[in-house]
Parts: sequence; structure tokens; C-alpha cells
Amino acid sequence: MIVTTNDLFRHAYGKYAVGAYNINNLEQTVGLFRGNLGKAAKNEDPVNPDLAAPFIIQISRGSRGYTDKRFLEAMIRTAEEVFPDAIFAVHLDHGTEDTCYDAIESGFYSSVMIDASHHPLAENIAITRRVVDRAHDKGIVVEAELGQLGGVEEDVVGSVCLTKPDEAVEFVAKSGCDSLAVAIGTSHGAYKFKGKQSLHFDVLEQLLKVLPKRFPMVMHGSSSVPREWVERINKAGGKLKDATGVSEDQYLPAAKMGVCKVNIDTDGRLVWCAIYRETFRDKPEDFDPRTPGKPFMQAYAEYIAHKNQMLGSAGQLPSVRESLKAAATT
Ligand code: G3H
Ligand code: 13P
Ligand code: ZN
Repeated sequence: MIVTTNDLFRHAYGKYAVGAYNINNLEQTVGLFRGNLGKAAKNEDPVNPDLAAPFIIQISRGSRGYTDKRFLEAMIRTAEEVFPDAIFAVHLDHGTEDTCYDAIESGFYSSVMIDASHHPLAENIAITRRVVDRAHDKGIVVEAELGQLGGVEEDVVGSVCLTKPDEAVEFVAKSGCDSLAVAIGTSHGAYKFKGKQSLHFDVLEQLLKVLPKRFPMVMHGSSSVPREWVERINKAGGKLKDATGVSEDQYLPAAKMGVCKVNIDTDGRLVWCAIYRETFRDKPEDFDPRTPGKPFMQAYAEYIAHKNQMLGSAGQLPSVRESLKAAATT
């Protein structure tokens, strides 16, 4: 069942964070659905209520352009039929104004992100407001961003600029956005920190004090870049140096301070890269796309189930279902 991100945030707020995972292809989609239902092995496995989690599927502009954006919708609609227990939002990741309008008009996305954070405050507000007005007309919710992450956001090269709480208050009030991506020290990709570094919980604490009550915040650049996967890639011929990410034990403290959505793309890519490299290293005579695809779907499903445990969303699906039912009858 497709719901909006804010439907999920209402249940999660202050208790756990919902995982927002990017997809580009069929194997990622199947692994993602299986992992979120706690079924690592086969479609037919029963749903594991202790692991089953609500989740967000993220589609970036890069993903839409990889083949034809219609394949993504077809895959996700099919996954919805194959996995009828799943409760998830379909979210446009890092949209421009035009991509947001395209997603809003498509009738498929339940949530869009307008990323105008590289513009000055007034322009960011004006652009976001236009997207919010168009989205709300169709019952779609909008994530906006204020402040800039380090690293590269699609084609926007950002230098770290943490979100300023006073600007956040003005931004949320004037733009009408439904959730806010805040810059609290993370960056996109596999190379986030040099040495040990923590999230800026001080900034999060200030934001929590000044934003409207129970206003959902979003954390981009949240992959943990596990050493285990980096080492597996490098042992199988990769060359990833000094890759480090957000410590998984910081997800729940951030969630308790209002971070409802935690964006993870890089970690999924690492799992993909390790499994594909290892498979063809160990079976050099093989050239069947299904040979790495099968273990990847399984490994990815297991990885997602693990991530959801770290986010606190694992096991929440039955209760989310009940609360959505209750909200529909009131
Ligand atoms: O934040 C960016 C996401 O990781 C998407 O990356 O544009 O390469 O699909 P992508
Ligand atoms: P990572 O690169 O840390 O996975 O972040 C993904 C992201 O923020 C997608 O919007
Ligand atoms: Zn992002």
C-alpha cells in the first residue's frame, strides 16, 4: 500500500526513523521489499512481524534517467502486488522544480523533495512554496531542504553549511513544506568523515526547540559505509580508500530528536558492488546476470532488515497498519 511520507512520520515521530532507500533496478527493488517484510530468502516466506517495517522508496533524477522513468513505476507497482503486506511511500529524491511537477502530475509519487537549498533563502522559500501549492492540490507532501551537505548532491556541488535554526523557522512557516531536510554534518557518498566525527546533535537540539511541534526532520547522507563491505569490495579488486560514514548508533538518538526519515543509498551500492565483484571473481567462467543477482537480492534484503533494526523501524509494520486503519475511520 502506497502512503505519503507524512502518514509514516506521524507514527514514527520521536520514537524511530523510517528508512528511505534509493532504487535503480529490479534486484534492488525486490531486495528492498523482501528486507522490509523481514523475508530474506524467498517471496513466499511469511512476513516476519519482528522485522517488518514501513519504508520509503526513493527515486532520484539519475535513477529516472538511467533507463526510462516508466520502468520504475512498473517495477514498483508490480512489487506492490507481489508483496501486498508492504506499506511504503514513493518519494522523488532531490527534485528540481520541473522534476517535482512531473512527479506530482504522474499520479504515482506520494511525496516529492524540492531541493532548492543551493539558492539564497528567499528564493528557496519561493520555489518551495510553488511546489508545495501544486503538490498539496493533489494530496502529495513535500520535503524541502535548508542548509547544505558536504560533497556532491546530484549536479550541485555543496560546501558544508549547517542549517540555521532561525532561518528554519522562517522557512517552514513561509514555504509550507511538510518535512525539512536539515544539514547536521553529514554528506552524500562513501567519503563522509575524516577521522571520527559525530552528527551535530547541538544543531538538532536547537531545531527541535524552535520548529513547530512534531515537525518531521530528514537526514540525508546517512549511510554508515560499513567497513566489512568496503573490505569485501577491496578484496575483490575494488579500490575504495578511507571510506567512512555515519555511525549506526547515532540513528536512534537522532530519531528521538525528531529525525523521521534517514536517507540511505551508498550502503546499498556497496552491498551490490561487493556481491557482484565477488561472484565474478569466484566464478570467472560464469556470465549469467542471475548468478550475482540472486545472492545480491538476498544480501540486500538482510542488510535492509539490519538497517531497520538500527533505525528502530523493524517490527513497527503491524502497528503502522493499525494506526492507518484507525485514522481512516475517524
Ligand atoms: O543523494 C543522492 C542519491 O544518493 C542519489 O544518487 O543521483 O546517483 O542516483 P544518484
Ligand atoms: P548516502 O550517500 O549517505 O547514502 O545518502 C543518500 C541520500 O541522502 C539520498 O538522498
Ligand atoms: Zn540526499
